[in-house]
Amino acid sequence: MQANIVLLPGDGVGPEIVSAAKLIFDAVARRHHHDFRYDEQLIGGIAIDETGDPLPPATRAAFERADAVLLGAVGGPRWDDPKASVRPEQGLLALRKSLGLYANLRPVTAYDELLDASPLRRERIEGVDMLMVRELTGGLYFGEPRSRSTTPQGVRAVDTLEYTDFEVRRVVELAFRLAAGRRRLVTSVDKANVLESSRLWREVATDVGAAHADITLEHQLVDSAAMRLVTAPKEFDVIVTENMFGDILSDEASVLAGSLGMLPSASLGEGTLGVYEPIHGSAPDIAGKGVANPVATILSVAMLLRHSLGLEAEAASIEAAVTQALAAGARTADLGAERPLSTLGMAEAVLAALDSAAP
Ligand code: IPM
Ligand code: MG
Repeated sequence: MQANIVLLPGDGVGPEIVSAAKLIFDAVARRHHHDFRYDEQLIGGIAIDETGDPLPPATRAAFERADAVLLGAVGGPRWDDPKASVRPEQGLLALRKSLGLYANLRPVTAYDELLDASPLRRERIEGVDMLMVRELTGGLYFGEPRSRSTTPQGVRAVDTLEYTDFEVRRVVELAFRLAAGRRRLVTSVDKANVLESSRLWREVATDVGAAHADITLEHQLVDSAAMRLVTAPKEFDVIVTENMFGDILSDEASVLAGSLGMLPSASLGEGTLGVYEPIHGSAPDIAGKGVANPVATILSVAMLLRHSLGLEAEAASIEAAVTQALAAGARTADLGAERPLSTLGMAEAVLAALDSAAP
């Protein structure tokens, strides 16, 4: 297969983890005789520095020729001035919106090898296997109006939590389709006891559920879902929720996997182009040191091969190689290792496991 992959390293640890992930792409291409072509483009803070635009026209143009996009991370203290007129995160949001990426899939697996890396008790997280489906192009992140003004009562800031029924329906329907290939349980998370948008969310989710008699639907309020994620995480199969709730709950869920550095994601939507990225962000505190965990990005490569290129065997081989590397003791610093591997060292451990498996 020939495929064009746009690489968006971005900021912070982004360039380090994306170059580690590229080694994995190359190894898969060699072993399975694919021809992957890379097109590296700017996004985020570095794009602001070089062009003044966090999602420059050249990057947008590259999407036209792409089969899939792999993103590192955006943002960092350099661009954090609250008064700045343009921010790195705007590049990421514009990317999601312009490509219509309304669903963000964040699988959370508790690896047996990492059960002791989590601050949660082993017996509580053993066997955790859930898929968080986060709505990605609506809600507070995009709602209008948003403003700041000075009133006689003081400075006033407004964000808007807005959903239209079709936006809820398409992401909940996707959650049901994904649940059909799993344990057939969908937990729809909302705040229907307070928010009007959540009452609409629940209504639509119930309606979608009625068309899927073979799949169980439960509703849960976001505050109690946050608690249940750490008290009884094994009960979850597919969680579907609005943008901001999903952002918060997925960082919380990463604790189940031992580290934020383990969680990949896939953003899918209206078009055929998917964007794949680790959920951890730019991690400015460790950027440039070569110590970031590349596994979330490597697992994002697996999701890319599966969802955008239909290469299931290749995707599964990467996931198996990660498990094997962990079993062999490979650990980066975030996983609580005494003698941690570097970013490159961890990628090489995964490569070694890939190479040792039968093609
Ligand atoms: C994420 C991140 C982003 C988000 C930031 C960087 C804008 O936290 O992908 O979870 O809030 O969506
Ligand atoms: Mg987040």
